[in-house]
Amino acid sequence: MAYPEKVYLNGEIKDAHDAKISVFDRGFIFGDGIYEVIANINGRLFYYDAHLDRLKDGLKKINIAFDTSSLPKAIDALISASNLKDQDYMLYIQITRGVAPRKHAYPETAIPTVMMFASPKTLPDINEVNAQVITRDDFRWSRCDIKMTSLLGNVMLNDEAKQHDCYETIMHRNGVFTEGSHCNLFFVKNGTVFTHPADEFILNGITRIVVLELCKSLNIEVKETPIKITDLMHVDEVFLTGTTVQIASIQQIDDHILYTENKKDSVTKKLQEAFLKLKYTVTPL
Ligand code: PDD
Repeated sequence: MAYPEKVYLNGEIKDAHDAKISVFDRGFIFGDGIYEVIANINGRLFYYDAHLDRLKDGLKKINIAFDTSSLPKAIDALISASNLKDQDYMLYIQITRGVAPRKHAYPETAIPTVMMFASPKTLPDINEVNAQVITRDDFRWSRCDIKMTSLLGNVMLNDEAKQHDCYETIMHRNGVFTEGSHCNLFFVKNGTVFTHPADEFILNGITRIVVLELCKSLNIEVKETPIKITDLMHVDEVFLTGTTVQIASIQQIDDHILYTENKKDSVTKKLQEAFLKLKYTVTPL
């Protein structure tokens, strides 16, 4: 995959090869920073405000003082310089605590490092992937609600899926399913949608929130209750949600096959169709 040619770094648009940060940046040394990934679909950043709110919330949680009001102008400049004005793309935003001598506690004077890039990316109307996934113990820390750049746990778990020729690893902690390495996890049983509550054990995905709203508007009952590993045999459908995944149906979990052909009238399908409509209308959360 090609690298983006342009990068926004601390107020300037740079050629990617000229965008340099200090090796003492705490993002590099400690993974001390947060990020967002936002899809631009059909000429607008999909749920930009919700992503921005989560970014602000993350900054607050890890005590980085950064005023995000400069971001819209900066994004505009980046997208123009990247020649992406008329295209669908993925925008990556990262804010780290900045450069400081290596000491664990927050430094008093560091200036946050702000970096963004965008790559062309057209998501399919509906994600037709019928995913095979593996399950693993969720060995990550217990602040998964923070969208932090230190993603080693997620990276290790995702790579295991790749080694097994699978789409994703779904995780469980204390006997209940939490989420995927880069997406949220939903189950359907007797027409009711189940997903892990938005606590410290999962990232509260923007797509997750959108899907919960869609369930409400489609009169689909929702329970933000985790599904136990031992209940897996009794669920009818399982799907993943995320900015890059959208809504992806799961066909097989380890050796457990949920179905062998695409279910036509499934709840997953209904949500995928409703989500597609959303992509072409502006609906505030
Ligand atoms: N991942 N859970 C985890 C652990 C994630 O990393 C993500 C997103 C999600 C879904 O969040 P959202 O719907 O807001 O994209 C859930 C991004 C896309 C990534 O790391 O690339």
